[in-house]
Amino acid sequence: MPVTSRTQVGIVGAGPAGLLLAHLLAMRGVDAIVVENRSRDYCEARQRAGLLEAGTVELLRSVGLGKRMDAEGIEHSGIYLQFLGERHHLDFRSLTGGRWVTIYAQTEIVKDLIAARLAAGGAIEFNASDVSVSGVASDRPVLSYVDESGVAHEVSCDVIAGCDGFHGICRPLVPGLSVYERTYPYAWLGILANAAPSTDELIYSRHTDGFALYSMRSHEVSRLYLQVPPDEPVENWPDDRIWAELQKRFALDGWSVSEGEITDKSVTAMRSFVAGPMRHGRLFLAGDAAHIVPPTGAKGLNLALSDVVILATALIAALRDGSWELADAYSGTCLERVWRATHFSWWMTSMLHVAPGQDPFDSQLQLAQLRYVTSSPAAALSLAENYSGYKPLRFEI
Ligand code: FAD
Ligand code: PHB
Repeated sequence: MPVTSRTQVGIVGAGPAGLLLAHLLAMRGVDAIVVENRSRDYCEARQRAGLLEAGTVELLRSVGLGKRMDAEGIEHSGIYLQFLGERHHLDFRSLTGGRWVTIYAQTEIVKDLIAARLAAGGAIEFNASDVSVSGVASDRPVLSYVDESGVAHEVSCDVIAGCDGFHGICRPLVPGLSVYERTYPYAWLGILANAAPSTDELIYSRHTDGFALYSMRSHEVSRLYLQVPPDEPVENWPDDRIWAELQKRFALDGWSVSEGEITDKSVTAMRSFVAGPMRHGRLFLAGDAAHIVPPTGAKGLNLALSDVVILATALIAALRDGSWELADAYSGTCLERVWRATHFSWWMTSMLHVAPGQDPFDSQLQLAQLRYVTSSPAAALSLAENYSGYKPLRFEI
């Protein structure tokens, strides 16, 4: 017989979305459990995003999650765009009247969130198996799982939050889902290297052999990406080949990429994906469970956390005050932001990557667009506003 229990919100997934949701709900006295099928170590080590919009930084600060981010995060005032062997700086602060972005890795946000939840006595079940959700059309949905010691549980909830990422179990429970999708004919090979970055800000480089991105994790650790063919085996990329390709795609007179020991290497597919509605009955989807953007715009994590602010506000109104209006508006409110970010991410991706067999007409269009954003303040402002965070959200405490 399964062990039965009761909570207000059952959260599937201990990624940034699920963990922040539990944190915000707890701040307003709403109970939740987070059920995750991976280990704590795995969740804390998974290499992903690195760039936070100014609004995301302010949000995390305002809910008590800013201490380590403020000490270790690196503020950037803009980015470089490189093409035809020239590097151009876009200064977001002066373009937008003060906006900036911060480098602080998703791994660190996840560590901070897990530590905060556990310190507050919050429930997180890592290493759960057979996770399933039922009864979402009723007002008592059930979250079932087997814990790491093999004991089966059934948690009766008011609401289930599907924060279980792109490959999760929650999205398929929404009937009549509309799906909009674009796959791109390339992927990103990402590396982490023990090398002090030789750039002060991120460099997005369009090269005839493909896109490259120079990012960082700290003043000692670089994070770099190379456009590669889709499904490219990582084994095709020994360290020497990676450094040679990076040096070529970022080449600039008198300057080079600083090299060091490569500690992580992985290939990520590039995809745009939007599924709606993001709610069915008492099931709400948030973050990558509902939408994916290609990482060129650095939007995925920021978007996931925006969904969570909207969802937490709606669930607090519903479960504490009995007012379901915000919950009813949830999907529409999120999808408006999601489509803006989807457009921006698609636009950045299309401008900077060279598709296999790309014709000269497309290449000239890309170069015309790059010249435009690096010479027109109005065009640069549009990029800067989207990149640093369009319509930032606050969590009203
Ligand atoms: P996830 O992080 O995917 O978390 C979902 C969780 O659910 C996982 O822990 C998973 O193990 C768990 N789960 C799945 N199935 C189940 C199940 N059946 N039962 C229980 N648990 C389950 N975004 C940015 O904003 N800026 C960037 O710079 C950026 N760079 C990126 C670079 C790369 C290479 C990649 C791949 C992504 C990048 N992103 C970036 C995107 C960002 O990482 C994601 O959007 C973000 O992780 C979404 O968070 P999430 O909580 O919605 O989903
Ligand atoms: C990262 O640091 O991992 C990163 C930064 C900006 C992007 C994508 C990834 O656009």
